[in-house]
Amino acid sequence: MKNILILPGDGIGPEVTRQAEKILGFFNRKKNIFNITHANLGGAAIDEFGNPYPKQTQELAEKADAILLGAVGGPKWDKLESSIRPEKGLLAIRKHLGLFANLRPAIVYDELADASTLKKEVVSGLDILIIRELTGDVYFGEPKGIEQTPEGRKGYSNMIYYDYEVTRVAKVAFDLARKRGKKVCSIDKANVLACSELWREEVIKVHQSEYKDVELSHMYVDNAAMQLIRNPKQFDVIVTGNIFGDILSDEAAQLTGSLGMLPSASLGNANQGKCNALYEPIHGSAPDIAGKNVANPIATILSLAMMFKYSFDMQEAGDNVESAVKKFLAAGFRTADIMQDKCTKIGTEEAGDKILKNLEQLYS
Ligand code: IPM
Ligand code: MN
Repeated sequence: MKNILILPGDGIGPEVTRQAEKILGFFNRKKNIFNITHANLGGAAIDEFGNPYPKQTQELAEKADAILLGAVGGPKWDKLESSIRPEKGLLAIRKHLGLFANLRPAIVYDELADASTLKKEVVSGLDILIIRELTGDVYFGEPKGIEQTPEGRKGYSNMIYYDYEVTRVAKVAFDLARKRGKKVCSIDKANVLACSELWREEVIKVHQSEYKDVELSHMYVDNAAMQLIRNPKQFDVIVTGNIFGDILSDEAAQLTGSLGMLPSASLGNANQGKCNALYEPIHGSAPDIAGKNVANPIATILSLAMMFKYSFDMQEAGDNVESAVKKFLAAGFRTADIMQDKCTKIGTEEAGDKILKNLEQLYS
């Protein structure tokens, strides 16, 4: 049995993860392989336990072979003190499980090439993979804080990378590049930041020692932000630190014009045959549309497809889930966020049902 922990989270999280569960149900009816449990993370966990990443969830997360997360956060918890905000639950689970490699693909589906705010020729056929380091950088660097000093109040965060943190994420990037366009662009700010200087040196070492068959280039983050909208198709795999990756992956997602379509995976080190892994849609909890059956479940369903491929070596099942989604789009069905001319607008549950039906047909 494969143990899957589902963390529906807040806002639209529960309704989008429910659609992915329909897909899991289908595979379980064919052959009972997935053992599914649920737990709380983020605001839902604050409400129940006063903690965004409570002990109960931590224990289940440690035991899980893979985790599917909806989304966390919402205005209801915005006024809480920073240590118990929903986002802290997300950061805590990443750190706790050592999920250092965050894979964020930005893919433009043919049917949705018009959805981008950029010219169609700039984005059509786009397929890039951003690998964001996820457990270091200013997100976790110590010391950090806010203090009173003689010169005034001082706020500080520390950008820190150890060599091994750079090496392991660079290896993930090179390994994945080998399976696709064989190009890695490492993004840093080595002209200014010492931390980035080390980043660049370590990436070069890894490249020289094991990956000379992959093309490596380097780019400063400010230029990269510009290049991503000027000519995004020049990139194949991008590898970068936590904060630059946070920003650039939002930019890359917007290139596709359909945030509701993009999945992600956060992976840890293989440890005695087990590799911690968490899959989640790139979009947030969208509290304004929560519970209204209008959210797009595709990013979550595609996150499940990534889980099949990366955690369970179920390549074919993952491909079939993706095909079921493509067929759904080709048939002209759209949730509100990706609605286009001459298409049929449908809700979250109906979208989940239609994608499920397409999948069933692939196996009948
Ligand atoms: C993301 C989010 C998180 C981050 C927030 C919610 C803590 O923006 O996953 O990109 O900054 O990593
Ligand atoms: Mn972000």
